[in-house]
Amino acid sequence: MNWINDPNGPMYYNGIYHLFYQYNPKGAVWGNIVWAHSVSKDMVNWEALEPAIYPSESFDINGCWSGSATVLPENKPVIFYTGIDPNQYQVQNYAVPENLSDPYLRKWVKPADNPIVAADETMNKTAFRDPTTAWKIGGHWRMVVASRRKQRGMAYLYRSRDFRKWIKAKHPLHSVPNTGMFECADFFPVSLSGDTGLDNSAFGPNKHVLKVSLDLTRYEYYTIGSYFPEARDKYVVGKGFVDGWNGLRFDYGNFYASKTFFDPSKNRRILWGWTNESDAAQDDAQKGWAGLQAIPRKVWLDPSGKQLLQWPIEEIETLRGQNVQLSNQELKSGEHIEVKGITAAQVDVDITFSIPNLDKAEPFDPSWTNAQDLCGLKGSTVQGGVGPFGLLTLASEKLEEYTPVFFRVFTGLYKHVVLLCSDSGSSSLRKEGLYKPSFAGFVDVDLDDTYKISLRTLIDHSVVESFGAGGKTCITSRVYPLVAVFDDAHLFVFNNGTETITADVKAWSMAKPDKMNN
Ligand code: FRU
Repeated sequence: MNWINDPNGPMYYNGIYHLFYQYNPKGAVWGNIVWAHSVSKDMVNWEALEPAIYPSESFDINGCWSGSATVLPENKPVIFYTGIDPNQYQVQNYAVPENLSDPYLRKWVKPADNPIVAADETMNKTAFRDPTTAWKIGGHWRMVVASRRKQRGMAYLYRSRDFRKWIKAKHPLHSVPNTGMFECADFFPVSLSGDTGLDNSAFGPNKHVLKVSLDLTRYEYYTIGSYFPEARDKYVVGKGFVDGWNGLRFDYGNFYASKTFFDPSKNRRILWGWTNESDAAQDDAQKGWAGLQAIPRKVWLDPSGKQLLQWPIEEIETLRGQNVQLSNQELKSGEHIEVKGITAAQVDVDITFSIPNLDKAEPFDPSWTNAQDLCGLKGSTVQGGVGPFGLLTLASEKLEEYTPVFFRVFTGLYKHVVLLCSDSGSSSLRKEGLYKPSFAGFVDVDLDDTYKISLRTLIDHSVVESFGAGGKTCITSRVYPLVAVFDDAHLFVFNNGTETITADVKAWSMAKPDKMNN
């Protein structure tokens, strides 16, 4: 029931995953914000508990906004969150478990020395929030608070020796002109090779990722760079990475206010993100809920060092049931073929497309710098040479409704350019009240080496989460079909390019998760 937004304070503690999230206990619109709390042993089957943090003190009386958890070296968790005070100022508070021997850590207390961080006179007191997980290198803890200075996005850095007294560093960790407010900053190390995650305090031969959520675009952007904790905590954005609105994204669709955490039980870093509704507030009031947390993803550095990779956590595969397979399925120009025998409204699909010949790929116009505009221009029904090919998800039998997720390949100056689209333009026969963008991102692959590209898509009634090329480009869409629902939803593979493509399709009907201990 009700409204949810940002994931907050994800952590693993004594065998249990905790996820907190922004929640309105009173309705399906944003407001009355508390930290709702759910626990799980596998991040698939969850138990909802009572809200863990809610307005009760002067330093958070007008709201308990986003924040993060840190598990201290003596195995004690601490939450940082933003409180809205009586002046509507944003201050940073901490909370600790009342009883460490409660396996679910149901109750949290707010010590009397709160707030631990408030904006000084030089800062914007009403745009200063979302503290990160803290990390410790040498004798000092550090954390970041997101903010803005006029239209400059700011990631303020704070240091502490004792975790209570925090002092603002002279230089912010990072700042970018003209981005507008940073929200929900996240800063974490990634290993140079392999897919193993690192603890936030790990320091060695690795890279660091800084992600910010930009209020103005409602997208998230990250850079990969080098972090020098011994040199005034300088973060230097790596060569070739773009800061701000043209930067890399975790997800090119509806995915915001995300946060990662290190999972020591499987040595991996997990990413959680919020997927907002794309229907109208009155629809949400009617259905009684709004917003969801996307499937958790493992994140790690691509071997090229040029981007991150993401993949749905392996635990999601425990929901897989009935499986169908199409092997070496030829898709001639204009064909669409149904993937039958699965519950198409709730399914996990994994495909590898083989492209026998790239010669007929359309020429790429270098002025096409915006993937989403390009996908708007060249949708799934616009014939190309190599592609568009991919999936028609949540489709009605006669294709009055469908959400295509597809690749299109162009011939670029130096190599082939690949576009991945998730287009909600035809997703619903409903005429009014829906936001139906053609989300898209470029996919940095070398087709000339492999002549293959993969697509994994998780479909769950109103959400389509796609992972292109092994997690290089990810797109989440929210769609609201009227006809293609439950047993009337279908799944097709299609090809609208002139060149024949072959597809190896595996699809699994997905079960509903259960409560944690069933
Ligand atoms: C991001 C955000 C955060 C804030 C929270 C309030 O979606 O605006 O910056 O802490 O939501 O619910």
